[in-house]
Amino acid sequence: ATERTLSIVKPDAVAGNHIGEIYRRFETAGLRIIAARMLHLSQEQAEAFYAVHSERPFFGDLVKFMTSGPVMVQVLEGEEAIRKNREIMGATNPAEAAAGTIRHDLAETVDANAVHGSDALETAREEIGFFFDDDELHSRH
Ligand code: CMP
Repeated sequence: ATERTLSIVKPDAVAGNHIGEIYRRFETAGLRIIAARMLHLSQEQAEAFYAVHSERPFFGDLVKFMTSGPVMVQVLEGEEAIRKNREIMGATNPAEAAAGTIRHDLAETVDANAVHGSDALETAREEIGFFFDDDELHSRH
């Protein structure tokens, strides 16, 4: 089915000048970018976005990293967009990511892992709503 997913190009990949490379990989895989914005997350925004991880030991470092520089947030749309995006990203830990994935090719550490992608339909809906209003989604399917 056609799905939408929330994608973030994280501060390390923006600083590394990899926005275009990452967008090219989305588009080559048949995913359409139907909304996009650059922003520098505040601590409050990062804590709210990652609230599900608030009890995890890595939460502080995660928030610190995600607020360390600008990010690109985008909504990807396409057939099985959630699974497809996760495939393109590769494993959360770049050391475990398969060759040819974004995290294998462009990322260094589990925090500075280049990209975020929603993990399921319900989280995708929530995460898209966190950054975009419905009238900002330019669906093209
Ligand atoms: P992301 O998909 O953005 O969701 C939460 C982030 O926490 C994850 O990518 C990683 O960058 C970061 N993180 C740091 N340590 C861990 C860990 N042990 N397990 C999962 N995620 C981690």
